[in-house]
Amino acid sequence: MSTRSEVLQNCSVVFRSTVSLCGEIFNSVVAEVSSSAQCSVAPMMDWTDNYYRTLARLMTSCSWLYTEMVVSETIVHQAENLDRFLEYPEIQHPIALQIGGSNVVNLAKAAELANAYGYDEINLNCGCPSDKVAGHGCFGASLMLKPELVGQAMAVIADNCSVPVTVKCRIGVDNYDSYEELCTFIETVSSMSPTELFVIHARKAILKGLSPAQNRTVPPLKYEYAYALVRDFPHLKFVLNGGINSVLEAKYALDRGVYGVMIGRAAYNSPWTVLGSADRILYGVPGPGLTRRQILEHYAVYADSTIGKYGPHRPNIRTMLKPLLNLFHAEPGASRWRRAVDETLRVRKTVQGVLEDTVRVLPDSVLDAPPPVPEMPGDSLLLQTPRLPESPSILDPRLPIDHPDLLQKVACR
Ligand SMILES: Cc1cc2nc3c(=O)[nH]c(=O)nc-3n(C[C@H](O)[C@H](O)[C@H](O)COP(=O)(O)O)c2cc1C
Repeated sequence: MSTRSEVLQNCSVVFRSTVSLCGEIFNSVVAEVSSSAQCSVAPMMDWTDNYYRTLARLMTSCSWLYTEMVVSETIVHQAENLDRFLEYPEIQHPIALQIGGSNVVNLAKAAELANAYGYDEINLNCGCPSDKVAGHGCFGASLMLKPELVGQAMAVIADNCSVPVTVKCRIGVDNYDSYEELCTFIETVSSMSPTELFVIHARKAILKGLSPAQNRTVPPLKYEYAYALVRDFPHLKFVLNGGINSVLEAKYALDRGVYGVMIGRAAYNSPWTVLGSADRILYGVPGPGLTRRQILEHYAVYADSTIGKYGPHRPNIRTMLKPLLNLFHAEPGASRWRRAVDETLRVRKTVQGVLEDTVRVLPDSVLDAPPPVPEMPGDSLLLQTPRLPESPSILDPRLPIDHPDLLQKVACR
């Protein structure tokens, strides 16, 4: 069984050996990873698909990549057709598979089937508030209301795979939102199973009345819950997620004691700025160091060899181009380029062809710029940001789990 840090140590080797995906060996040597700081790209349905993840890996060789959630029933019922859901290029290591579900038998079977694909971690989704998921039985965020079921589920997932198992959750659900209740969830799951790492999306989920998108903005972020968990469960690892918009904010959180940071929307909407500087700022290594012109060249080779892999036009050229569309976010020429891509993909049959016809609308200075190096703020504004409270947390230390008052309180809810 490989631990996160072992995988991390190997990520430079994996990167070098797998970029042959593009038919050549990169000369940019990724230095030995010296820090165990963890940065990950969040699981995001329809966004962090195989194609986006391959693109992401051309910008960061160390950050962990999470798949979109794959429902355990899909894995079980599509056992004959699993490559479509579970295979990925080797370049994507270190990679975590996120699964969703609450049927313990199916979760066990799904873990066993997924194990053959060599993921570095299996993560259970306990944070998704979508009606499509949360409305159908106990699933996603509503699982937080059943800590013992999650503990049992994590135990069977672990029994059926050979990699670490982790949970991604909110800080609470509806009125089950006190710090003590979050502690009960963490304590129960970690004592019933070998789960040692929890990704904490630091806002609660509201199961009725908010759309999934609103559930990512309306409930306030409470980073202090995550910092308090770090303080109160020193034997466990906590990854902070929610509202982290830059690697400098990520570094701020890491410096304050969380084991890792998970970045979602910012990594998708501004991949160059966020992922392009992650290795240097968060791991202290140079990273792949490719310009965006080089990234496009490598990605095009991968994309054109992938079109139609799972049936006629599956994936199609539009799907393969989608991850690229934010690569020039906020740069001169970006909107023009996106429009040009949209028009050109109707007539061109390959990604390479579309790119050849369209990159000329982007300035060379943008295409050939090295990855960004954000300046570390000396007297940082971040340090004054109320969203990122100082650690140790402002929350009171938790009561012991067997404290009679606490049990009384939980039982009354
Ligand atoms: C389009 C989209 C799809 C998402 N899908 C998932 C998912 O499949 N599983 C999951 O645990 N979280 C999912 N999330 C939530 C993210 O993983 C993350 O927790 C959330 O966006 C907060 O992080 P951020 O502020 O860095 O974006 C999704 C978010 C977005 C924007």
